[in-house]
Amino acid sequence: QTPQVVVVGSANADLVLDIDHRPAPGETVIGSDVVTTPGGKGANQAVAAGKVGGAVAFVGCVGDDDHGALLRDSLSSAGVDLTDLRTVDAPTGTATIMVTPDGENSIIVSPGANRHVTPAMLEETRSSWGAAPVVVLQLEIPVESVAVVATGARGRVVVNAAPAARLGSAVLAAADPLVVNESEAAFLLEDAGAAAGPADDTGATARALLRLGPRSVVLTLGAAGAVVAETRRADADRPSDDVRVGDEVPPADDAAEVVRVPALRVEAVDTTGAGDSFVGALAVELAAGATLERAVRLATRVAAVAVTRRGAQTSFPTLEELERAATQLQDRESG
Ligand code: RIB
Ligand code: NA
Repeated sequence: QTPQVVVVGSANADLVLDIDHRPAPGETVIGSDVVTTPGGKGANQAVAAGKVGGAVAFVGCVGDDDHGALLRDSLSSAGVDLTDLRTVDAPTGTATIMVTPDGENSIIVSPGANRHVTPAMLEETRSSWGAAPVVVLQLEIPVESVAVVATGARGRVVVNAAPAARLGSAVLAAADPLVVNESEAAFLLEDAGAAAGPADDTGATARALLRLGPRSVVLTLGAAGAVVAETRRADADRPSDDVRVGDEVPPADDAAEVVRVPALRVEAVDTTGAGDSFVGALAVELAAGATLERAVRLATRVAAVAVTRRGAQTSFPTLEELERAATQLQDRESG
């Protein structure tokens, strides 16, 4: 099956431990036993996409160690094509995740093998991502590698700017959509010297992000859902009689459509990787030809199920699980 979605990015073993409180400088705290689960933003997105039935390939690097084997297992059980998952001479990336009783987590990523996802490696694997209908990127691999793929891909490029880092204008311009949460949005806007607008006006934030150059924006709001902002396209969104030759092209924010998509009410157990499951599901829907808004609707459902279970990849739903959960979720939505 030819992959419709190619995820280029990171794979980490998540070393998860519960703590009472975060250690202060110089303090030692005793935590729980460490539970090791497959993670990493890129691998998470690929697994989420595979579980909802997408034809997916993952391009990345792991080490020749137990953590690498754990990731290969998880990815291949989700049906992800691993032709371009390389085993390199470096330890598999890890993410040490400390979870406090309030459910908040603090994460320390040690990139390891993810540093080997270099521009050179991506040139060598261009045949797998270059012509894919949808390519997905996040920021746990070198930024220059992200730029190579964002600017070189012929298909639609989904850029999840997580964890927050500076993006060049070429990467921003390629993003369709740019997917960020509120803190990543604040980082990008501040970095660009742009005003974010009032904190409670997420529509204004989405419009401000659109002015940074992406063709569309998805601002995720956790339990509050997501905001979708799209530049109106003369060829697609606008009725054809609306466009006349000689029409002036309005600035992006005036021509933007902003839609709010509500989240489903669930009891969150562990939000680790929920954002990644959102991005993976979104990519599958886009590859299947869905509108961005429709894709975001499915993505919020997948993320809602993911937060009700422990772990990242281990918590992502299959299509069957999603359908089963949908009935319950709908009851809660209307109840
Ligand atoms: O987004 C969640 C992921 O971020 C975790 O799985 C961890 O590996 C970190 O990379
Ligand atoms: Na989870």
